[in-house]
Amino acid sequence: MTSNAPVLAHDDAGRGAPLVLLHGFPHDRALWAPQRSALSRRARVIVPDLRGFGASAALGTPPVTMDGHADDVAALLDALDIERAVIGGLSMGGYIAFAFWRRHRRRVLGLLLADTRAGADSDEGKQKRRDLIAATRAAGARAAADAMMPGMIGKTTRAKRPELDQAMRAMCERAPVPGVIAALEAMIARPDSAPTLATIDVPVQIIVGEEDALTPVKESEAMRAAIRGSRLEVIPRAGHVSNFERPSAFNHIVSEYLNVV
Ligand code: MLT
Repeated sequence: MTSNAPVLAHDDAGRGAPLVLLHGFPHDRALWAPQRSALSRRARVIVPDLRGFGASAALGTPPVTMDGHADDVAALLDALDIERAVIGGLSMGGYIAFAFWRRHRRRVLGLLLADTRAGADSDEGKQKRRDLIAATRAAGARAAADAMMPGMIGKTTRAKRPELDQAMRAMCERAPVPGVIAALEAMIARPDSAPTLATIDVPVQIIVGEEDALTPVKESEAMRAAIRGSRLEVIPRAGHVSNFERPSAFNHIVSEYLNVV
């Protein structure tokens, strides 16, 4: 149970089944602000900053693999004396959830996979990330924000809730450069999780925004087909950060899911 990993900066609120929510790239735990208090009425909601991001940037060199992030999450559960939890992740957080399943599956009560995909990067995708590493070294996190923002928020939210677009841009721009670079390296290196899907035998809820341009609905449909007994909900008028854009719809789906975990 013990590990040398530092304890991630985190929020911990509510009572009930532990629910860990892992943010995407290049986010921090503020991504889950719309879930923290709403879902804490249904679960013990634990929201960390991944190492390299938010207040966990102070913890030292960020991992350059999804396995490293997964082990950080396991160490956080150890520190909180939690044996098993629902592991939820959005996008890159989902990549970490797959790694957590492979490495620590006996600790998983269920998986919540939001706006993510199972597949690894294509060669072209890897090259784009290498280019983004170079751009981030030269210009800072603004380069990552510029690269990610066009796909981050759905077109309906951009038109109707421009303040959410601005808040998301601010979150991406404040991401620490070492964390951004390490996360890009970890995403390049991540394995294909498609073969993992058939091994998952806990309750799985998949959620995706109808307008998600980064991890489109068809990625979620493929995961739904490959994970036995999993459920998929598509949130209308939401993009890649569906929890942030349409929190009531997202929280309702998660609350229902918590009934079956
Ligand atoms: C994320 O939101 O975490 C990113 O879109 C993941 C990725 O770039 O693959």
